[in-house]
Amino acid sequence: MASVDSSQAEAARFAASLIESGMTIGLGSGSTAELFVRRLAERIHDENLRIVGVSTSVSTSELASSLGITLAELDDVAELDLDIDGADEVDPQFQMIKGRGGKLLREKIVAAAARQRMIVVTEAKRVDRLGRHFPVPVEVSSFGISHTERALQALGAQTSIRTDADGSIVVTDGGNRIVDCRFVSIDDPLNLDIQLHRVPGVLETGIFVGLCDILIVGKRNDVVRIDNPASKPPIAFHVKRS
Ligand code: A5P
Repeated sequence: MASVDSSQAEAARFAASLIESGMTIGLGSGSTAELFVRRLAERIHDENLRIVGVSTSVSTSELASSLGITLAELDDVAELDLDIDGADEVDPQFQMIKGRGGKLLREKIVAAAARQRMIVVTEAKRVDRLGRHFPVPVEVSSFGISHTERALQALGAQTSIRTDADGSIVVTDGGNRIVDCRFVSIDDPLNLDIQLHRVPGVLETGIFVGLCDILIVGKRNDVVRIDNPASKPPIAFHVKRS
């Protein structure tokens, strides 16, 4: 797991404290999601919670199973009560860049199937404008990838096909590739998402708009919950503050 600071761990712990018995929840991917899953597993065992998880990646499925969390396939549940995930950047409109771990396709499908989405970040992930620190990951078909990449460049992206530390091309859980797209400025994330989706070969983008209802922010000595005022209906689950 990537290095963890205490604010990240506290934020994940707080998020896990909000989970109630009987929920079906989406389990995100990445280091923050991993902390959440580990704490959730402790609560399930200590408090005998009835929780069903729907995983967003092979790695999260393996972790959750190893910790004894009951998992269901997304297609076997009608709806999720809540999805919990991390993010790479979050702007003031609760728009996000996700997918540094390459799990964006399943993360977005699971998030969209949830009644509410809770995103857990540290203060460093909050930006005034998306794209400040991270490129936009775009999951593409391997077929004709050089043509897809050129079409992404024509939209203004500086592109790179994602590779591992050893230089081998990253293959996603769905068998696809990731093209990281850096833009000089992302003024309108939703419009950019639409433009990217029009490129043949693009399967999903790491621009997440309208998919964060509750933001949990780990700060140096505090954890803050910020509810998205644009989210409807209002947060339904009972909040247990630790
Ligand atoms: C996985 O592909 C990503 O979307 C992660 O959710 C995101 O990169 C946040 O990861 P960390 O919690 O490891 O920062």
